[in-house]
This record gives sequence, C-alpha cells and structure tokens, in this order.
Amino acid sequence: MHAKAQPIRQAKPVHLNDVLTANKKLLAWVNEIAALTRPSRIYWCDGSDAEYDRLCAELVSAGTFKKLNEKLRPNSYLALSDPSDVARVEDRTYICSEKKEDAGSTNNWVAPVEMKATLNKLFDGCMQGRTMYVVPFSMGPLGSHIAHIGVELSDSPYVAVNMKLMTRMGRKVLDALGRDGVFVPALHSVGAPLSAGQRDVAWPCNHEHKYIVHFPETREIWSYGSGYGGNALLGKKCFALRIASVMGRAEGWLAEHMLILGVKTPEGKKHYVTAAFPSACGKTNFAMLIPPESFKQQGWEVTTVGDDIAWIKPVVDEKSGMEKLYAINPEAGFFGVAPGTSYETNPNCMETVKANTIFTNVALTPEGDVWWEGLTKVPPAHLTDWQGKDWTPDCGRLAAHANSRFTVAATSCPSLDPQWDNPNGVPISAMIFGGRRSSTVPLITEANNWNEGVYMAATLGSETTAAITGQVGVVRRDPFAMIAFCGYNMADYFDHWINVGARVGNAAPKLYCVNWFRKNEQGKFVWPGFGDNMRVLKWIIERVEGKASAHQTALGNIPDYSDLDWHGADFSEATFKAITAVNQSQWQQELVLHDELLTKLAYHLPAALKARYGALRQSLAV
Ligand code: OXD
Ligand code: MN
Repeated sequence: MHAKAQPIRQAKPVHLNDVLTANKKLLAWVNEIAALTRPSRIYWCDGSDAEYDRLCAELVSAGTFKKLNEKLRPNSYLALSDPSDVARVEDRTYICSEKKEDAGSTNNWVAPVEMKATLNKLFDGCMQGRTMYVVPFSMGPLGSHIAHIGVELSDSPYVAVNMKLMTRMGRKVLDALGRDGVFVPALHSVGAPLSAGQRDVAWPCNHEHKYIVHFPETREIWSYGSGYGGNALLGKKCFALRIASVMGRAEGWLAEHMLILGVKTPEGKKHYVTAAFPSACGKTNFAMLIPPESFKQQGWEVTTVGDDIAWIKPVVDEKSGMEKLYAINPEAGFFGVAPGTSYETNPNCMETVKANTIFTNVALTPEGDVWWEGLTKVPPAHLTDWQGKDWTPDCGRLAAHANSRFTVAATSCPSLDPQWDNPNGVPISAMIFGGRRSSTVPLITEANNWNEGVYMAATLGSETTAAITGQVGVVRRDPFAMIAFCGYNMADYFDHWINVGARVGNAAPKLYCVNWFRKNEQGKFVWPGFGDNMRVLKWIIERVEGKASAHQTALGNIPDYSDLDWHGADFSEATFKAITAVNQSQWQQELVLHDELLTKLAYHLPAALKARYGALRQSLAV
C-alpha cells in the first residue's frame, strides 16, 4: 500500500516540453488536473517514434520493461505487473449517471456528486513525484465522421507507450482538435504518489483503492489505482465502449464489442462482417482467420479490420442512395490475450507479434524471448514466470498469467484489410453473435429478421472459463457481449438497437448466432473451430447473397449438412445434425433463464423482445 506522499516543496510542475495545443478547454483541463494531482512534471506526447523509443528506454531503466532479445523479438519489451493488478476490475467499474435507472441493473452505480467527492480525495496529490503525460488520441481514422477524439492524462509511461500502439496518438490529433474541438477527458492515475527521495517500484498501483468511473452525462472518465489493460488504456473499454455507447445512443449510432472482418468471394465480391463474442471466446482468432486450403484454392480470402470494437453508423450508400450500416475499428492496435495463441491456432497473430510488441505478464525464456501456455506443444525446460520466479514444467504454476497480453499496432498484421483505415468505414453485410455453450445453442442460426436477431443477441449467454471468474462452466448472460461495457441501461440499449434496425430497414445486415463450443458426451469439443469456421462464414455470405438454403426451426434458419462446403473436411452428417439440433427440453430450460434475464431488465424492456419471448414459448411448447 502507498501511504499518502508528504507534500513536495516544489509548487509548480516542470514542463518537459512545449504545450502542443491552443485548445482552451484542453489547456484549462490540464491546468485544473495538474493543480489537483500535483505532478512533478508535465509532458505532452507528440506520438513520434523517437518519443516511443525514449519512453521505452526509460521504462527499461525504471525496471518496468525488460528489452527482449533483439534477434529473436526485435524492438519488443516484456512488462511484469504487480500480481494484484492483472485484469479489468468489473466490481470496481461504475456508471455514474444522474439517475440510477439510467445505469440500469447490470451496472454498478453511485450518484455523481458522491463519486466525485470520493475521487477528488483520492486524486488530491496522487501524481506527486511523477510525470503527468498528456496523451491526445483519436478513436478511429483522423478526420473520419465516425471517429472521436479523447485526451488521457496519466501518470503512467506504460500507458503512454501502449496508447501509441493502440490508438492514433499525438501531435496530429491536437492539430485535428484545433482551438475549439471537443474531446472526451480521460483521467488516469496509478494512485501511487512518490515522496521526495522515495524509490519507485517496477509496477506502481494502489492496493487499497481501485475505481474505474464513467460519467455518461458529462462524458468523462476517471480511473484510479490500476495500471493494467482496460483499467488504464482508457481509449478502449472506457471510451470506445462505455462512453461511446452513450454517445451513439444520443446520436443514432452503435458502439459495439465486435470484431470486424472482410470476406472476398471467388467472384471478387467483398463483404464485411462484424462479430460479438464475450471475452475468452476467440475473437482475435476469428478476426484473423485463415480459410482451409480448399477454400483458398476456390478464391476465398479473409482480412482483418479489427479484433475487439466496432463503431457502426447509418451512412448513405453511394450506390443505392439508401442508408446502410458502415463500421470503423476505433482502435489502431491489438491488446490480445497471449495464452492459447500459436502458429496452429492463429498464424496471422503470431506473425503480427514477431516484432515491435509489448508483452505483459507472459514468461521469459533464458534466451530473452517470450513464452506462454499453448505457444508450443512442449514447454521449455526452464523459464522465468510472469511473477519473475524460476519456472519448470513440473512446478505446478502457470508460466504466463491466464490474462497475459500482447500490445501491437494493427499495421503489423499480415491479414490487415486494405480498407481498415478508411474514414468512411466499411459496409456491413452480416453481424454474428456468439457465446461459449457446451450444449443447447446450435452451431449456427440465422434470425428471420432484425428484431429476432436483437432477441438472440440480447439473450446471449456464455460459460465462464477459469481465466475470467475462477469458476468453470457457469452460464453468464452477456447481452450483445456488452454486459461489462454498456454505459447505460441495458433495456434502453436493446431499444436503441431496434430503432437503428428500423432506420436502415431492408438495408440492415442479416443477424446470426453461432456456437463454436458444443461438446459431446465425452466432454470433448465437437466443432474443430479456427479455420473451419470459414465453412459457416461462407454459408453466411451465401445467405446474404441469396444463394444458400436453410430450414426453418423455432429459433430461426439453420443449414442442412448439404448447405455447407465440406471440401477437405472429415465431419459426419450425424455429428453436424447433433450440433445443429434444437433440443426441445434443453430449450425449455433455456427459456427459464431468458425469463430471469428479461425480468431483471424489465424496466423499459422493448415490447418487441417480450413478444419474441412469448412466440418462442409457444413454438417450443413451454
Ligand atoms: C478484452 C475483454 O480484454 O473483452 O478485450 O475482456
Ligand atoms: Mn474485448
């Protein structure tokens, strides 16, 4: 625990470089926060490569970073966090709307006045002895009508260098902001002030207090006490999902926990598809999918636009003159989970992290490279684990933390789509929702229409993995994979989705539900997943193009075995039938769980969803 630092005599912070803006609001805010947090130094990030290299070198000197072997992993670093600061802290995450019901029953809520009083006390002097980095960033291509600007003030240089990889960051953003532009203020402190002469630790954080707080009405973010991932890189979950979902609702667009991928057909037609999955369901793998050989030979290609977040807006389509949904990836990098990633599961990702990458909480090899569970079939004989301890395969501990990460720029990805940076976004043909379910939910189901798809997404469930809760196999309802990320009342969010669908009408993307995780009676996964997901993706694209058939079920449209392309696969019709069957008694139980969710979200629950629930009960004879 860090005791409150004794006030340092120096009253005014030293400016390490020139102030890079004339934006009055920004200048006033930086001054106001400097007066509150009392940093020793202020540094305006310009986003240059030289700055990145210098800050990384400083992080090496401070012991936060270890430079990896330049030959094996060029220009890359390893950070090991404090063992208590390893993941997002959902129970410390708050949506502080004026009214409790606007945060809804799925969010933690405290009245803004009360929360501001708590935070003002914690932030008082919290940056003493540290540098305050001013980190201007754009979520989305600079100048895009779908993008928005944020500025993070952080006392963590780890945050500054990660933001350089994860966002468009620096001087160019301030230029775009100009004198009067608006930005989302995002304040971050590790909550570990240093008194004069006090030695810093490699990973400062606050062991007693952690707060990840959003004020939706004023569109502000205040984050205290953690230096890790989504708690600290405030452009990601805090801005691009929680605050942006609120902005999207007010302005008629969607901020979603979705990857975006491109699919080129053998005829050369390009489609873009988004997919929402809860954490730990393989989003990065799906975003970087490599089709099976036989599909590549036919001419199918898959490309990556984003692996985690999509901002989706109705835009007039040049060809048809009608409004269509277009999406951008607001991020410019990947903050992906390392364990399980290998040349077998995700070769594109392995190529992406070959160099120029920051690794956090993975293990270190004696040669100065990184390792994590699943990277190789046979683990190395000796490693330094994520806690800096000696590790051997028989020691009974994980070498890498289950939530260990890589941070890398999107431009390092070999499958990056040529349109990934297009300021107008890419037109969306289909949207997929999926969870991790060992039974009940079929491999693939197509919704009959938008509102039935919204119901599918609203009732999405996923089984927990040890990495998330420590409890395995409990179904957690995760509407739209947004349970931890929706910045307002979830029932109002469903209503917003219904309204967006009505607005784009017939031009709306088709909606699908997938489940790659069905298990057989022996408890083994049945569907091979990874590249074979292309078989399902191809069917989806052919449905969009009106070329593939399906049969009607109570849940929606499901393909027959003969509707999928099985070239190069050894997957029997009987097994396919088993994982696409709608089992009435399982669904009768499932509907009991839907009812629980809908009751929890009863306030403002759209009538269309209640009607769909009633129709399902009827067709499944509940
Ligand atoms: C993530 C998550 O880190 O969804 O992307 O938890
Ligand atoms: Mn995510």
